[in-house]
Amino acid sequence: MFEPEPTVPDVAPQVARYAVFGHPVAHSKSPFIHQRFATDNHKAITYHAIDAAPESFPAALARFAADGGRGANVTLPLKGLAAAQCATLGEAARRTGVVNTLTRAGDGWHGDNTDGAGLVADIAERWRLDLRGRRVLVLGAGGAVAGVMFDLLEAGVDHVTIVNRTPERADALADRIGEPARVSTAYWADMATLGAFDFVLNGTSAARHGQRLELPLSIVAPRALAYDMNYGEAAIDFLAWARAAGFEHVHDGLGMLVEQAAIAFRIWHGVRPDTEPVYRELAAGGG
Ligand code: ATR
Repeated sequence: MFEPEPTVPDVAPQVARYAVFGHPVAHSKSPFIHQRFATDNHKAITYHAIDAAPESFPAALARFAADGGRGANVTLPLKGLAAAQCATLGEAARRTGVVNTLTRAGDGWHGDNTDGAGLVADIAERWRLDLRGRRVLVLGAGGAVAGVMFDLLEAGVDHVTIVNRTPERADALADRIGEPARVSTAYWADMATLGAFDFVLNGTSAARHGQRLELPLSIVAPRALAYDMNYGEAAIDFLAWARAAGFEHVHDGLGMLVEQAAIAFRIWHGVRPDTEPVYRELAAGGG
């Protein structure tokens, strides 16, 4: 017997909208990373890069929400502004004042910071280095550094010294963290008097402005780790200095980028993606 085909309604499958906001943002690897995670985990999403200058970011984010945006990453220079757009904040975001992951919750945004957890995951899981007990020197006191301080302390580092070109900014960040026994500040010019560190973290944007950092060799402890939160070209100078200076472990921030994305992906989609294939592809120059 002939049976008529059931009629299938002509409706596109539900595709959830995600984006990364930044300024500039065209270079961002987040669309590649999130699309790859989504494909690997059978999630139907769109993920676009949206360029928004600081003054137009609130309106652009509101438009994205009105168009059905479910989640967004936020990159430079919008991470501090993003916190102000949130109805609620996760603990790392609340303590650092910096948001890199926005999730639509009811008719507002919930803000998280996954940068610090991404940094710790890269160091502890990818590179298998123990952060516990390390004496840390952090270079810079901008949004990038603020975003990771909470998770560094949570990971069990012994002490963090923040050194910044503009010392008042380092002091303000240390005050905000509010753990004077574990976080202190020093002048850049005094760095040679501070002794040796097991972990030196570059969170400055100097190389992005074509500028070199002046760093003394005395900061390098045996078996120390040098890590640049920048990646690619912007990390070349610091990593070259670190190798020449004798750091045993030297890494750029590409792994942190992939890991923070994976944590954001889990917040949005409830699954933790496998980061290794994407990391390898990016490290080989793909994406
Ligand atoms: P981000 O969000 O990347 O942290 P930011 O808030 O502008 O951007 O911070 C950039 C950081 O890099 C700051 O700590 C900045 O020092 P200042 O606070 O003195 O501006 C630091 N930085 C930028 N260029 C630098 C340079 N040539 N030498 C040392 N530090 C530099």
